[in-house]
Amino acid sequence: MPAQAAHPPADLVAARVRDPYPYFAWLRRHAPAHVERRPGRPAVWQVSRYEDVRALLTDSRLSKDPDRVPGYVPGPAGFNRHLVHADPPDHTRLRTLVNTAFVPRRIAMLEPFINAVAHRLLDRVEHHTHVDLIADFAAPLTFRMICAILGVPEHLDTAETRDTLMATIAPEASADPARAERELRRLLDALIADKRSGEGPGGMDLLGALVRAGDESGTISEEELRSTAYLLLLVGHDTTMNLLGNGMLALLRHPAEAARLAAQDAGSRLVTTAVEELLRYDSPVRDATFRCAAAPIGLHGRTIGTGDIVSLLIGSANRDEERFRDADLLDLGRTPNDHLAFGYGLHFCIGAALARLEGAVAFPLLLKRLAAAELAKPADELPWRPARVMRGLAALPLVRR
Ligand code: HEM
Repeated sequence: MPAQAAHPPADLVAARVRDPYPYFAWLRRHAPAHVERRPGRPAVWQVSRYEDVRALLTDSRLSKDPDRVPGYVPGPAGFNRHLVHADPPDHTRLRTLVNTAFVPRRIAMLEPFINAVAHRLLDRVEHHTHVDLIADFAAPLTFRMICAILGVPEHLDTAETRDTLMATIAPEASADPARAERELRRLLDALIADKRSGEGPGGMDLLGALVRAGDESGTISEEELRSTAYLLLLVGHDTTMNLLGNGMLALLRHPAEAARLAAQDAGSRLVTTAVEELLRYDSPVRDATFRCAAAPIGLHGRTIGTGDIVSLLIGSANRDEERFRDADLLDLGRTPNDHLAFGYGLHFCIGAALARLEGAVAFPLLLKRLAAAELAKPADELPWRPARVMRGLAALPLVRR
């Protein structure tokens, strides 16, 4: 087989949203530097092997500044000035401003709160025969946590706010992302004005701290402030919601592994390795975020041109047989497990400690409290959201028989 067959099989491409893994396996084997070219658009390269993805995550020839690709906007246009779309020194400045709120020591203090919210959500559906693990649990839990850290008041912590937030990135033709963006902008501007006038909750208040940093030392502009608030709300929610959904689905499909985990006490070693394995096995952030080549890059005999977009396929890297023995197998005790689910290098996930803690609290609890629940429909009929970067379910319907 040639190293660079031009076209991946159409059936694998068509099934990409529902099940990207056969497509990824094909890419790793036949086209480890695969390019898609469309008229009038920048070329998009897909990099699928673990070693390449990891090396390129720390390669300074790749830039995260979308201004290098004229006309290309990698997210809602009004919310694009944040650390995910910045190179040093802007990246360093913005990352330093938010990082302290997410250090593991501070995050660890949230455990009783996460536990209490998780129990409360499960209490609400205690007697229901039908439970949607996403709408009833994963969405409200993860949004509650990021709202608490940012200092978003409880009356804005609603399903409606979450829907508006998610609609800003919905690629479906039926969605109206521009309208959602306008609504969210109004909401965030009002919230920032409240922080400025000194209102808002005490305790954790990252947004209030960012507003003060901007006003007192000019370290963050108004546009960056709004974009950063948007970014943190989105990635604090969407990613971990996907971890809980994808992870529970994996456990439901592997009852023997689930039974292993259900038998554990909180804080046991297997809970820690299980969260890592679920992150690897069905990675919530399927592709790394926007990157483009700031200089030509040679890869597997091909050349990524300056200005081309490069998509580093984390979900593929994490299933690379060259790196992980029995990569398609779920093994909750897997060690070592140097997956790339949180990225690598300069842009390594700020929220990793929070996401890990939410997972470590939620999975054992769900296995206990939903022990009698099973999938309400066949796994291959579940609705996956057709997102650009993320991999997550729109719903995970369970039934107690
Ligand atoms: C299971 C959950 C999560 C996963 C799998 C995940 C994954 C990732 C990945 C892969 C990156 C690097 C992207 C790249 O280099 O292109 C990243 C960056 C980031 N993550 Fe997470 N994340 C998760 C949860 C969170 C949470 C809860 C937060 C909280 C706010 C968060 C905040 C961020 C931020 C701010 C960045 C950008 C860091 C930078 O550019 O320097 N993430 N995340």
